[in-house]
Amino acid sequence: MKTTATHTADAVTVEEGLAIQEAQDRIYDNEMATETAMQNTLLTPRFYTTDFDELDAVDVTPVRENWDQLIARMLADPNKGHFRKNEDWDDVDWDGMDPQLKKEFIDFLISSCTAEFSGCVLYKEMKRRGQNKDITQLFQLMARDEARHAGFINDALREAGLRVNLGFLTQKKKYTYFRPKFIYYATYLSEKIGYARYITIYRHLEANPEHRFHPIFKWFKEWCNDEFNHGEAFALLMKSDPRATSGFNVLWIKFFITAVYATMYIRDHQRPAFHKALGVDPGWYAHEVFTKTSTLSNQIFPITVDIDNPRWIHNLEKLRKANLDIAVAKETGGMSGKLRQVSSSARAALAFISLLTIPSLSNQVPENPRLEPVY
Ligand SMILES: [Fe+2]
Ligand SMILES: [Fe+2]
Repeated sequence: MKTTATHTADAVTVEEGLAIQEAQDRIYDNEMATETAMQNTLLTPRFYTTDFDELDAVDVTPVRENWDQLIARMLADPNKGHFRKNEDWDDVDWDGMDPQLKKEFIDFLISSCTAEFSGCVLYKEMKRRGQNKDITQLFQLMARDEARHAGFINDALREAGLRVNLGFLTQKKKYTYFRPKFIYYATYLSEKIGYARYITIYRHLEANPEHRFHPIFKWFKEWCNDEFNHGEAFALLMKSDPRATSGFNVLWIKFFITAVYATMYIRDHQRPAFHKALGVDPGWYAHEVFTKTSTLSNQIFPITVDIDNPRWIHNLEKLRKANLDIAVAKETGGMSGKLRQVSSSARAALAFISLLTIPSLSNQVPENPRLEPVY
């Protein structure tokens, strides 16, 4: 494909964005960042694949009006050219940064870049394999955005001498297969929680600019609006087929909400220096993000999880500690390490089951799912 843009921010298609990335991969390759992103533990961002034919057969007629409006907003492309360094980008003193903060922040950038790219790869594949014009157009537009986001994070990483090699990741990372309905739940939630996370940090730093220790946070507002739109798209896909959000599937929805929230909680608590530098208490932040995400997900999900039930935080903490113990046991190795790993895994499973058995909060889903990014 002919490439006219020279920066991912200006790419109008995902192919163009990826061609720019590939050209850069050839110039700046760095094994460390790619290796970090390759670690396939339970908590690192995953790569997904699905039944593309089933997804291609989706008929969006029942949500046509909202669908066309959403596609028109994405085609208007207000964020074209936005995801690049400009005069608002301040110099970053990587060498002067507290080593623990630097380590955690780099980990944050790498896992964010991997997550962006995971979305990009899935969306691009759907676009490539599909015949349905509505579906392929949507997935092309979402993949375009994710390629820009990933490219921008790589710009930030490059200043620290690092780069996530996206081409290599695509080939080498293990893919998890999910049926389309599970892709809906997982991806819808990750887009909306992504919006809630970015806007919460953005608003916090707007009020407390002394904590903005890196310029990338200035870009979070437009960024989270892209993620917001992607979440809207998955809400419409679910709305087009009422079976996706009723009957037995409601239990799956609860499972996915619980898993996505718990993963965020555990991962964020692994970065204490990062949150301290932002001036954010990870417990407060988690509660804030869960509240926003649950309020948003009422647009489509008939239930949400009860994060104010005392069992919620109690078992999240149990799960977090069990996870820490699993990591220690893995490092210990040998027979005693194995035994500790088994017992810690059992504790983690019990805590997760306790979370799942907290009664859900039910919700009357509105006729029209359309939402605005109001936070
Ligand atoms: Fe993104
Ligand atoms: Fe997204």
